[in-house]
Amino acid sequence: MAVLFVCLGNICRSPMAEGAFRAASARHGINCLIDSAGTAAYHIGSAPDPRAIATAAAHGIAIGDQVARQIEAQDFQRFSHIIALDSANLAGINARRPRDAHAEVMLLLDWLDGHQGGGVPDPYHGDEADFLAAWNLISRATEAMASRLAYLASASASPFDYPPRSN
Ligand code: 4NP
Repeated sequence: MAVLFVCLGNICRSPMAEGAFRAASARHGINCLIDSAGTAAYHIGSAPDPRAIATAAAHGIAIGDQVARQIEAQDFQRFSHIIALDSANLAGINARRPRDAHAEVMLLLDWLDGHQGGGVPDPYHGDEADFLAAWNLISRATEAMASRLAYLASASASPFDYPPRSN
């Protein structure tokens, strides 16, 4: 399994998602490649926004070493799952999708009960509370994602014994 999180700039939401999913995967014993990228080129080579770094750090997760990059054609071969942080970026990803793409493309919040079809609001032009709101959605969705992927990867999983949802 290989998972790529994608937002617009790759400096706020998708770096937080990458960090949160790394921690959730470790908790659930998932061994997979994890990365993030942006649909836009504005911030290529930049570290995450200081507010994203501070918000993740306040929850025990270090994301300061990440470097922003733009999604590229090979990502559709390298990754099994490309996870968009909102529907505008989902459309941006699908617009770049090569014909021979292998990745499954979906919204992050499709993994979170009650939020299917929704997006994580862009906190870039907001304040600390907006970053915290984004973090809260991202951490809940990445936890749900890791927990379900771990279950589906277990030998006993079948569509008929899918566990009841706890949230
Ligand atoms: P992100 O936030 O997509 O969550 O990384 C943004 C970062 C930068 C810009 C927009 C959104 N920008 O317009 O520069």
